[in-house]
Amino acid sequence: MLYLRFKIQNYNMATENRGNFSSKIGVILATVGTAVGLGNVWRFPYVVGDNGGGAFLLVYVGALLLLGIPGVIAEFIIGRHSHANAVDSFKKIAPGTKWHWIGYSGVLAGFLIMGYYAVVVGWTLEYLVQACLGNLSGLTTEQYGEMFNQFAAHPFLPLIWTLIAMLVSTFVVARGVSGGIEKASNVLMPTFFIIILIMVGHSFFLPAAKEGMLYLFTPNFSELKPVAILIAIGQTFFSLSLGMGCLITYSSYFKKDVKLPKTAAQVVSIDAMVAVLSAMIIFPAVFSFGMQPEQGPSLVFKVLPNVFQQMPVGTLWGILFYALLFIAAITSLISLHEVVTAYLHENSSLNRRKSAYLVTFLVMVLAVFASLSFGELSHITLFGKTIFDLLDFFTASILLPVGGFFISIFVGWYLDKRIIAAELRIKHPKAHLIIKGYIFMLRVIVPTCIFAVFLYSILG
Ligand code: PFF
Repeated sequence: MLYLRFKIQNYNMATENRGNFSSKIGVILATVGTAVGLGNVWRFPYVVGDNGGGAFLLVYVGALLLLGIPGVIAEFIIGRHSHANAVDSFKKIAPGTKWHWIGYSGVLAGFLIMGYYAVVVGWTLEYLVQACLGNLSGLTTEQYGEMFNQFAAHPFLPLIWTLIAMLVSTFVVARGVSGGIEKASNVLMPTFFIIILIMVGHSFFLPAAKEGMLYLFTPNFSELKPVAILIAIGQTFFSLSLGMGCLITYSSYFKKDVKLPKTAAQVVSIDAMVAVLSAMIIFPAVFSFGMQPEQGPSLVFKVLPNVFQQMPVGTLWGILFYALLFIAAITSLISLHEVVTAYLHENSSLNRRKSAYLVTFLVMVLAVFASLSFGELSHITLFGKTIFDLLDFFTASILLPVGGFFISIFVGWYLDKRIIAAELRIKHPKAHLIIKGYIFMLRVIVPTCIFAVFLYSILG
């Protein structure tokens, strides 16, 4: 009887007309599009460099298997079962409870991340254009550093690029799921893979190719501090877009025939592969021209221009790299935009287009503060962090882990096991054992690990 009720409920939810990804490849490309972003191309390489190269890679793979895959599947189950946005999904599955606050926290996180992520997407646009104009040449690393600082501190130039990035995203999101997000991903992600493969191929021919690859792949356990485990977990969450209902929103557009565990495994492996490939581009390049991998934005915007200019046909490599970074970042920005737009559109009288524009307007207000925190507003700090850094810290280190923690508890402890089984549809003689093992991970392993990261980022 209960099961029948679930089935009927399922059917009603599935038939609501919210749009769907029309093909399985569209599902993979769009979901990979949200996951693959600045977290892979820009953050992962320096995190690996700082934490013992190959040894860190092993820990990262462990975190992906233990937390990444179960976490992605958990959000997929909620989204596909409810066919609703990040907030309404909880309201539908757990009516009359407070669980939907996880969704509110996710929508807030999406909005706040966009406030600074869009600024960085704007930087990549500026650098892409400068590379195309052949302006990234003839300077020293110090001068490139100065050039970046001046640009980031400019009162409105970065904001114009931020606005352009947001308008591109609005254009896509306003066109809906299959007509906008899926179409854009179907073009952008294959382009991304072609560029990344060309660049990795080129990496092998650089003078310090071997040195760079050894730096990345030699496990140096003596440099692996316990903290690296926590860093690997944090990286897993941000990189897989976990903990803020982004994957709930995307999977709410999955059709019934999409196999959730298989899709999760594919997305997680492609995301990890892109992170490793990005490091394979950056390390040989940086070592070949006598530089050191440096942390943060400085590596991509201050060091790499000098690396490219020393390569034969360096302008071309510069253009390709910033195009790569832009595609990675814009598809993630689109997914953040979609989380907030879907919620707004489905909870107000505004249509999708108007909701998308309203989100853009609000994000731009926030982005003004984030961008100016490199210039006019750099004196405004809290706990020693500028507005930009605060947005990053509050979202990546607090909202995402807390969201991930509660999503895992929700699916592990609250959600009816029959819903989990019905969504996973595992065809294996030992399916019940696999599901049991999966639920155990969500109940105990995932929350414990997230709790550890959370404590570390608050206290560390
Ligand atoms: N996964 C993206 C990256 O690696 O850059 C960032 C991100 C996108 C986080 C979307 C969260 C999200 F919902």
